[in-house]
Amino acid sequence: MIDIHSHILPGIDDGSPDMETSIRMAEIAASEGIEIMVATPHFISKDKEIERERVLKKTEELNEYIKSRVGLDIAVYPGEEVFISPDVPDLFSQGKLITLFDGGKYLLVELPMMSIPPYTKDVLHALMLKGVKPIIAHPERNREIARDMAKLRELVSLGALVQVNSLSFYGVFGREAKHAAQRIVGEGMAQFMATDCHTARARSPRYLKTEQILPRSLINLLMRENPEKVMTGRDIDVSGGGYRKNGKMNFFQKVAFFLGQL
Ligand SMILES: [Fe+2]
Repeated sequence: MIDIHSHILPGIDDGSPDMETSIRMAEIAASEGIEIMVATPHFISKDKEIERERVLKKTEELNEYIKSRVGLDIAVYPGEEVFISPDVPDLFSQGKLITLFDGGKYLLVELPMMSIPPYTKDVLHALMLKGVKPIIAHPERNREIARDMAKLRELVSLGALVQVNSLSFYGVFGREAKHAAQRIVGEGMAQFMATDCHTARARSPRYLKTEQILPRSLINLLMRENPEKVMTGRDIDVSGGGYRKNGKMNFFQKVAFFLGQL
């Protein structure tokens, strides 16, 4: 599996504090069947503007530790989780942001917890005009979206992609986020699931328990097939979206139905 959202780099943000924790996190990820991880430390304009070179260097160091000193079969690639702000498109043009896998095509974008800022649509649209696809990180954790899915549908209809957190299904972020994650996946709005791991404890890189509520084929789509496309710079097929077009239940609607029975 491929985890496109993690805070596994040591000592760079609120994720892993040191190399020991990062190695422990990599061990947990490996035990869950994760083979590839994207390190996505927080980038916050005018607040925590981590330097590109620092992320690349730390990713290299971590890979070196994982491979030669611990012997784990996990590869870590660079990326960032970019907090939304009006200057994000300009920062991207200036080469200051790191896209997923540093591939230049997909950018992980984070919304605030409580609201959807008024400039959100403009920023997402401007990024797409620049040829980069925004992936909205864990929208189930955003209060406005959790209470009104139409808010997310609007962003999805603009062309934004969606990543849900595996740990949201575990209930780690509360009932509201768990419910919202189920609805997002049930309606076919998510293209990715990732761990968004921060620690080797409660927020560790785990996803296997989601097998209890999501079909294996769906987990494969969200954690292997689509992330592989991001890794190789290919387009993501969003035609599996679960909107009712012809009255028949499609795959995602069946999932929604199933989830509704929980
Ligand atoms: Fe994150």
